[in-house]
Amino acid sequence: MENPVNLILVIFGASGDLTSRKLIPALFSLKVQKLLPEKFAVMGVGRTSISVNDFRKKMRESIISFSEEKKPDLKQVDQFTECLNYMAIDNTLFADYEKLKINLQELSEEYDSASNYIFYMATPPSLYATISENLTKAGLADQSSGFRRFIIEKPFGYDLQSGRELNKKLHNLISENQIYRIDHYLGKETVQNVLVTRFANGIFEPLWNRNYIHRVEITSAESIGVEERGGYYDSSGALRDMVQNHLLQMVGLTAMEPPSSLDPDAIRNEILKVFQSLQPVKEADVPKQVIRGQYTGSTIRGECVTGYRYENGVARDSRTETFVAVKFFINNWRWGGVPFYIRTGKRLPTRVTEIVIHFKRTPHHLFQRETGIVTSNQLIIRIQPDEGILLKFDMKEPGSGFNVKNVNMDFHYSDLADIRVPSAYERLLYDVMTGDSTLFSRDDEVETAWKFIEPIQSAWANNPAVKIYGYPAGTWGPSVSNDLIEGCGLTWRYPCKNLADDGLYCEL
Ligand code: BG6
Repeated sequence: MENPVNLILVIFGASGDLTSRKLIPALFSLKVQKLLPEKFAVMGVGRTSISVNDFRKKMRESIISFSEEKKPDLKQVDQFTECLNYMAIDNTLFADYEKLKINLQELSEEYDSASNYIFYMATPPSLYATISENLTKAGLADQSSGFRRFIIEKPFGYDLQSGRELNKKLHNLISENQIYRIDHYLGKETVQNVLVTRFANGIFEPLWNRNYIHRVEITSAESIGVEERGGYYDSSGALRDMVQNHLLQMVGLTAMEPPSSLDPDAIRNEILKVFQSLQPVKEADVPKQVIRGQYTGSTIRGECVTGYRYENGVARDSRTETFVAVKFFINNWRWGGVPFYIRTGKRLPTRVTEIVIHFKRTPHHLFQRETGIVTSNQLIIRIQPDEGILLKFDMKEPGSGFNVKNVNMDFHYSDLADIRVPSAYERLLYDVMTGDSTLFSRDDEVETAWKFIEPIQSAWANNPAVKIYGYPAGTWGPSVSNDLIEGCGLTWRYPCKNLADDGLYCEL
């Protein structure tokens, strides 16, 4: 892999969690793999006034605690922290950006960086436009003496209108190809592997369509609750937080047509086409196609777990969903009539993200099964944890007769003992440095995804009669979500059992 050209990475929000838990450890891993530019510096920018030395010490501790490297070499950590700098600024004060400009010029000379700057906004989204505006005004977005790239994190707006407005504001200042919108799911190795599984193997693609696939199911479950993010989460909910971005991107990669090349736009154009083909869920059909839920208090392995409404920062009468399941269709030749089911939730029994392709059953059932249930083949792409691919198929049980058993052909990434699966941020930071925008969401993708979400948001906002179901923390969400899946005895795939010892499903 090539090394990026010399550059300076400016991180706004450098005193925040994202910087210390994800960004700095990811940069350190790139350093260990010798994938950083020959001359590279970080300029941390934050509101907190701390010295460069204290910033370096804090980041040293973060690397030790959060690095993906099994045992970070402390000598290497110390060497790395020498490239870290820090300055306190008020993000809203233009005069501070002029000081930043001077500091960057000095660093550029020291690091021979030819004024290549990347600006990472690890800040609340409400500051993206302000920071970009001040940087532009200070001449820091001008690319005549080196590239200037802007990284922003989701959420990109909170609905279609605000998403459009954000894009508009940014486009008035900088061009789309300077913007890198992070959806960290696209940085996950196994999410990218969906493309390879589909388009590097001859055996799957001929079956990857309405003729052979019965339904597609995507689950992204978390066992944790909202933790310290109650304030943010209560104004967001699972639909905005996970579905509009991470889950739809996984739908895009699963359903897209083969791209003509690996060119960033070739791939993103195909994902966009999937989003454009999503059959809108009519407001009136929301209760039939979308199930929302909220976790209630329960006992998991003997321990009491707080209900969502009693988490810090959450309104006691909140109707924000911590679980959502959606059934929808993709209106195109490949997928016409094939239902897609997606679900995500907090406080579910386990942390698992997987894409399940359910193939159609054989047209005639010749063989007997011990269970009496005719199974169908499933291809399960395990995004996390225990990344891998599982194919479920029928096999003859040894012995007389033709008894059939469903067995697994299972590949685990962990079997590749010498290969460490890189973190999403490692991959994404490296890609911004080399200018590869394939794994970043484009303006039109974001807006089209909001368009799909909009009627669901409206139905919930305009019609309080649309139910929100309580589910005990540690269970698989409201049991009515099974009703979305039509067909005799069909349910979601449950990778493990409920953990809660008590509690009943209810309507809130
Ligand atoms: C974030 C959401 O984008 O993704 C969080 O805001 C969620 O609420 C997280 O917990 C899940 O990411 P991962 O990589 O742990 O699956």
